[in-house]
Amino acid sequence: MMRGAPPARNVDEVEALKREAGIAACSFVSSGMRLGLGTGSTVRYTILEIGRRIAEEALEVIGVPTSEATRHLAEGLGIPLLSLEEAGELDLTIDGADEFDPDFQLIKGGGGALTREKRVAASSRAMVVVADDSKQVPVLGGFDLPLEVGTDDWERVRDELDTICPGPVSLRRGIYRLEDMKLPLEPYPYLTDNGGYILDCEFGPTIFEPDQLEQLILSVEGVVEVGLFVGMCDAVVMATPSEVLTMVKQGGRLD
Ligand code: 5RP
Repeated sequence: MMRGAPPARNVDEVEALKREAGIAACSFVSSGMRLGLGTGSTVRYTILEIGRRIAEEALEVIGVPTSEATRHLAEGLGIPLLSLEEAGELDLTIDGADEFDPDFQLIKGGGGALTREKRVAASSRAMVVVADDSKQVPVLGGFDLPLEVGTDDWERVRDELDTICPGPVSLRRGIYRLEDMKLPLEPYPYLTDNGGYILDCEFGPTIFEPDQLEQLILSVEGVVEVGLFVGMCDAVVMATPSEVLTMVKQGGRLD
């Protein structure tokens, strides 16, 4: 997938930044909260820290996982979980992002969990994103925009998206769901937790009006969800090599 000019860093350095951001975001967490638990390698550190605080500091929270991977992780850590239907409104969701822009608009779905992630974020009173500084961009779209589509008519949806997206629209291939891991990996389309496919759309850094693009894409029959998150994120906890910055959106729900 294409991403705009990442800083030259080795894997260990990036992992350290993810860890710092993920843990720092736990300053937003307190006992009694119902929390949306995001998906990905950065928010994984948030979830590990929440598990540690439950075990060592008697933190009392209930989590709503945004994917089966997160559910497995949280269960293993002893974090009490509910489904979104059971939990109702949530106090806060903490999640990763593939890109965020100066208006706190996001591209998500690199991990394929965008549909549940968006439902959980939409049910939350606030959303905090955890990220290393490679995710900060002036304009969204350097990271290929993911869409979830049904498996029956994905080719028609792809052809329609070809008329909207300036670059290629590709069916994501790769790892199956956990229970299907025994199958050969590469030739098969990636299957989401909802049993859908993902189309990755190469817009390039051209998404100046993500709200309009979101509506346009959602109007295409067969699109289940699009990985543009507009007006949902209230703060970003971003780790750089020198510091961890908490950027709160002016006029947002955490301002
Ligand atoms: C999953 C997501 C992830 O939050 C996003 O891909 C960022 O993941 P990571 O922290 O591993 O870079 O949207 O669907």
